[in-house]
Amino acid sequence: MTETITFDERVAIVTGAGGGLGREYALELARRGARVVVNDLGGAVGGEGASQLAADAVVDEIVATGGEAVASYDSVSEAESGAAIVQTAVDAFGTVDIVVNNAGILRDRSFAKMTAEEVDAVLDVHLRGAFNVSRPAFVLMKENGYGRFVHTSSNSGILGNFGQANYGAAKAGLVGLSNVLAIEGAKYDIRSNVIAPTAMTRMTEDLLGAFADYLDPAQVMPMVVYLCSEQNHYTHEIFSAGGGRYARFFVGMNEGWFAGPKRVPTVEELSDHLDEIRDISTFEVPTSSTDEINLLGRQFQ
Ligand code: NAI
Repeated sequence: MTETITFDERVAIVTGAGGGLGREYALELARRGARVVVNDLGGAVGGEGASQLAADAVVDEIVATGGEAVASYDSVSEAESGAAIVQTAVDAFGTVDIVVNNAGILRDRSFAKMTAEEVDAVLDVHLRGAFNVSRPAFVLMKENGYGRFVHTSSNSGILGNFGQANYGAAKAGLVGLSNVLAIEGAKYDIRSNVIAPTAMTRMTEDLLGAFADYLDPAQVMPMVVYLCSEQNHYTHEIFSAGGGRYARFFVGMNEGWFAGPKRVPTVEELSDHLDEIRDISTFEVPTSSTDEINLLGRQFQ
């Protein structure tokens, strides 16, 4: 049996924690002893407007049950306001140990009709937002020799979904960010992972159809809280969580077809080997660009 997971003295920032999934993470981290910055701009699903009510309500809930939390109403979407979120943690609790990049909006439209503004708004919150909060937090974590990041991707980013070119690109970008933070943070005990959640929230209430009743956001929480813990030694990974199922997404690479050293095959020759190139009956899971180059190097020997 795993020992009880606690967060005594740890300082956590959860962005977009005024409702939905982020609220669940913030409540549980606080219940287990973390001091939490509950960040939320308090706007609509599309990102319009702002209100302090959402973040305040979650802070009140935490404080009412004996936990420690402060509200932050800054938007993640600009560098200055992202840094202000980290500063809120420093001012209130002295440092940052945990960042859950969770804030998000939707501006769905089919690609042919999508406007530049809809692209920017979504990239700014999800992808740049994660940069804006993670970078100043990473600097502190490096000094402290400890840190845990959880970035929120989506099956839409990893696999694609109709009408979500902006969102899917941002969500795939978060995997790229997490991978590099995992590599750069390794020697400082900074671990960085990705969650791809599925849950019934205001963001998805019109999208989930018959499964909605089975998708309580609280069911995503244990995976995220575990990844935030000192006990978590995994890094550079992507976990799916929703409806009580917890699983791992991964980027695999098969052996492929080797044309021979210092040889340029013809296009037809390549075409004749597409079955081998595409065969995924056996594969490896490289965890850095160096790993992939080493896989290639094996062919040269
Ligand atoms: P939600 O709409 O309840 O939560 C998002 C929160 O982010 C809101 O409280 C909102 O006010 C806040 N927010 C938006 N823009 C912000 C900004 N610029 N700065 C600070 N806060 C901001 O939706 P939900 O479902 O809880 O989403 C949480 C995260 O999970 C999002 O990143 C979403 O894309 C992601 N996700 C959710 C899925 C689901 O099935 N619910 C599926 C895949 C990903």
